[in-house]
Amino acid sequence: MTQSTWQIPGRIHAAIIMDGNGRWAQARGLPRTAGHRAGARAFERVVECAPGEGIGVLTVYAFSQDNWKRPGDEVRALFRLMEDFLCREVDRCVANGIALRAIGRRDRLPESVVRVLAAAEERTRGGGKLTLRIAVDYSSRDAIAAAAGVACTQDTFSRRLAAAYGEPDPPPDVDLLIRTAGEQRLSDFLLWEAAYAELCFTPVLWPDFGADDLREAVTEYRRRRRTFGGLTASVSLPGRVA
Ligand code: FPP
Repeated sequence: MTQSTWQIPGRIHAAIIMDGNGRWAQARGLPRTAGHRAGARAFERVVECAPGEGIGVLTVYAFSQDNWKRPGDEVRALFRLMEDFLCREVDRCVANGIALRAIGRRDRLPESVVRVLAAAEERTRGGGKLTLRIAVDYSSRDAIAAAAGVACTQDTFSRRLAAAYGEPDPPPDVDLLIRTAGEQRLSDFLLWEAAYAELCFTPVLWPDFGADDLREAVTEYRRRRRTFGGLTASVSLPGRVA
């Protein structure tokens, strides 16, 4: 696959399905929105330690197309958290070399979210330490369907898919996909890009997820033998440290 603007030699692409905010809140007798607030703090912790774990691209599932089925109050609270994060953290992202991008549909998002997203993408463009992709109003099936049409090579298809959710170049394939809260599903997330991802499922609820959990997942990933359908482990895998 072409990786022209990604510049991540030796670094991995990790993807996270941040699950369990609701259960975290319920266990404490708190409203679901309190779980999402705690989830946003966990998200910030993970972004902070990702580069140190050899992660060059981090894609997180913040709001799926199916999440529109949730009550309006919860949906609004989630968008508010995203907007707050983007407004509050953009300077820190610039200082820390983090390039922010959103993937997914924008035409149904609140206008203010679209505005701060675009501004954050513009301001952080060129951050070379970590590309942080936030999937918002995202559906992998939708993106695949939009990119499909004429028969083409996998490489061309990847380009069309990237274009379908608004990126100039296709990202590297996902190396490691983490899902929290004991669930073991992909839930319409990165179906194409995760074709050879190593899957890591943990019972930890997302708000409790931290640097040690991320390190454990990456360590487990590095222990895995990846043959990509062949018989021998590839020696030039992304993220493999010499
Ligand atoms: C799934 O937990 C989580 C979500 C649908 C939202 C994820 C959002 C965040 C972590 C916070 C905001 C993000 C950013 C980018 C600042 P759930 O609510 O389905 O949990 P449950 O299965 O226990 O009910």
